[in-house]
Amino acid sequence: MKPKALIAHKLLPEAMEYLDDQVDYEIGTSGKSLTKQEIISKIRDKEGLLSLLVDEIDKDIMDSAPRLKIIANCAVGYNNIDADYARQKKILVTNTPGVLTETTADLTWALILAMARRIPQADKFTREKKFKGWELDLFLGKEITGKRLGLIGMGRIGKAVALRAQAFRMEIVYSDPNRLTSEDESAYKAAFLPLDGLLQTSDIISIHASLTPQTYHLISREKLTLMKKDAILVNLARGPIVDEEALAEALEKRQIWGAGLDVYEKEPEITSRLLTLDNIVLLPHIGSATYETRLKMAMIAARNLVQGLSGKRPDNLIPSI
Ligand code: DGY
Repeated sequence: MKPKALIAHKLLPEAMEYLDDQVDYEIGTSGKSLTKQEIISKIRDKEGLLSLLVDEIDKDIMDSAPRLKIIANCAVGYNNIDADYARQKKILVTNTPGVLTETTADLTWALILAMARRIPQADKFTREKKFKGWELDLFLGKEITGKRLGLIGMGRIGKAVALRAQAFRMEIVYSDPNRLTSEDESAYKAAFLPLDGLLQTSDIISIHASLTPQTYHLISREKLTLMKKDAILVNLARGPIVDEEALAEALEKRQIWGAGLDVYEKEPEITSRLLTLDNIVLLPHIGSATYETRLKMAMIAARNLVQGLSGKRPDNLIPSI
């Protein structure tokens, strides 16, 4: 008999085909997320759960699933799961590290350049047939080459962003609780700076940290005041790392030059003041959204699930488990 699992959202077809052979699954939804009550009612008899980052998996859900052995999250971030409680209940938790590094680093640069060169605004202007000919001061942006890039978080994605920055001959500084080895600092041409120093001196600041109690609102009203007046801040990590109201205020007051967000404090809600500003570029959490990467993520999550269900140690147990 195949083990029973709840697949909270339908995955890409190849991943569903893989699961067909291995698991007796129920699909939660192919669209909007399930409510907590819906997850509770569907998970009672299941041994496995494959979740997306939009599914909040808390104590109540775990307590309602006495047979649950594994939660396979289809994301590298797992702040949507109460991992400490899972550990206490001996429920395995897995993620999908590694495969979305390059895709997310690519989009980081797309977002930096979109803001620095005002691409969405210029595209809108052109479509609205407002382009009446070349002008010396039309859509003046910010130069990237040779500027200072400040990376908050120097894990896999931070490093991949740093490698791309070398093509722009940027000076790279980083802040991270785990300092790189001197070999890695040389390889990534990145110098360590405490956070305040990084914020005070960087032209582009890009966030690649995990969301933890220590990084919640790391970019606060006070930290925003440290940034240069012509700084650009981008966040492709997790929304709550930035105090969104404080960011809106800083942008309104032109305290910093611009921002780019792919993630939000209370997704999918966005602080409404941000929507009216022209000095921010907003994306709908698509950092890893290429077909290739999302398929790899889905396949890894599916494999982790199957491994956990069959009593094997899954390939991608999260670090704290
Ligand atoms: C993740 O996997 O944590 C990403 O945010 C998905 O894009």
